Amino acid sequence: MQRGKFITLEGLDGAGKSTHLAWLENFLEDKGIDVVTTREPGGTLLGEQLRTLLLDPGQHMHAETEALLMFAVRREHLDKVILPSLHRGEWVISDRFTDASFAYQGGGRGVPFDKLHILEQWVQGVFQPDLTLYFDVPIEMARQRVQSAKITDRFEREQDEFFLQVRATYLQRAQQFTERICLVDSSQPLHEVTIALEAIIQQALFE
Ligand code: TYD
Repeated sequence: MQRGKFITLEGLDGAGKSTHLAWLENFLEDKGIDVVTTREPGGTLLGEQLRTLLLDPGQHMHAETEALLMFAVRREHLDKVILPSLHRGEWVISDRFTDASFAYQGGGRGVPFDKLHILEQWVQGVFQPDLTLYFDVPIEMARQRVQSAKITDRFEREQDEFFLQVRATYLQRAQQFTERICLVDSSQPLHEVTIALEAIIQQALFE
């Protein structure tokens, strides 16, 4: 049996990932593909419980504790959901994965990238997504979209400087890993982003 493909979605809070994830899921299902959608932090029972703690504005933790927890969630997620699904031939779409740890804990919080590389190596070895869609928006636009949501989480309450660093790290990684990461300009009207996305998916996964 052919192993399924692993697709991850990344972007600032408010970049529109959720909308595009729903579209992508439908698009692939229409092609007859078995799709599993999941998210990080989360994706497993333990992971969802850790997510609650990680996003709780009442929690104050060391940046490295936060990084370690993100990778602990990921270890469980790979073991219980991602790898078994891929081996069954299903395709997995994850709302965030390791690029988010580099962008948020590395860029945003200042955890040294070499420490994150060690965790990455430990938790996933050479395993990487087949395709990562990075939805890029200026931070002002991301913030406007987040503020229209009623309750903000621990990350969404961060200052502009934090998100500038997060975005810069995402952009830097998109330049570094051109084979894997596709940048999608998510500041365009929704239907235009969808058209761009469809072209990317066709080219990256079906040609
Ligand atoms: P998000 O995916 O934006 O979910 P929602 O759309 O429900 O708000 O929220 C998850 C948050 O977790 C987001 O602010 C980024 C953060 N995060 C990290 O800081 N590091 C990570 O490794 C991951 C996976 C997420």
